[in-house]
Amino acid sequence: MSSDTITSFLRSLIPDPSSPLQLVLLGLAGFFAVRSALSARANKGPAKFSMADVTETSVPTKRDFTPSELAQCNGQDDATPLHIAVRGVVYDVSTARGFYGPGGPYANFAGRDASRGLALGAFDTSILTDVDDPIDTLEDLDKAENEALDEWATFFKGKYVPVGRLVDEPMTPERKAALEKKEEDKKNKEKEEKELKEKEKAEKELKDKAEKDEKDAAAAAAATEESTESKKDI
Ligand code: HEM
Repeated sequence: MSSDTITSFLRSLIPDPSSPLQLVLLGLAGFFAVRSALSARANKGPAKFSMADVTETSVPTKRDFTPSELAQCNGQDDATPLHIAVRGVVYDVSTARGFYGPGGPYANFAGRDASRGLALGAFDTSILTDVDDPIDTLEDLDKAENEALDEWATFFKGKYVPVGRLVDEPMTPERKAALEKKEEDKKNKEKEEKELKEKEKAEKELKDKAEKDEKDAAAAAAATEESTESKKDI
């Protein structure tokens, strides 16, 4: 029964509020009305968190941000919004400029998808996906990293207002070509680095072997000399 229903029901029973009995009844009506209202509020309670709430599709989307649009929201000055993305959701963290604003301990996350940094517990900006790269799928994260990121996602959802979703830049032919070139350059660089390491390793092995041969030869020469000396003595 709602508080209004109880109150109006008792009011209908109390035509003369000046009578003591009727005043008691009126008091009771007030008590039930307040209790009912409080209990309705308690039952409502804070929304329970579920990971489903932070998926890209179920977040109440205000707008979509591409990584380059998000990068504009880096809070570099008080007039610039300060946003960061966690698991595909963009949060307004303008209330925490001390953390994410210029000079703050987590300024590296400003205007960026912070997911990988949070998952790995690393500040290094090189860990984060380049602004012009496709959105980090985070597929390679292990169980512990995923759990760490889930905890951060819960934290951000509880503390900050989600302002949108992180979405990929449109895939134009130019962008596709640029990404393919970047990927090829990266592979070539990795190959060159690997070859250089192998070359250095081979050179070190040769040098070590030459040194060892030299030592062995010196030891052999010393042994021969010693044996000649001892033969002379005999
Ligand atoms: C060197 C070790 C670290 C120390 C001493 C430290 C210290 C702190 C402190 C004191 C807070 C504030 C907590 C509060 O408001 O109750 C905080 C918050 C935070 N820390 Fe760290 N932290 C460290 C490492 C890290 C690392 C490795 C990361 C992730 C890469 C990180 C990310 C954060 C984030 C995202 C917040 C929340 C800021 C917010 O309220 O929005 N911290 N840290």
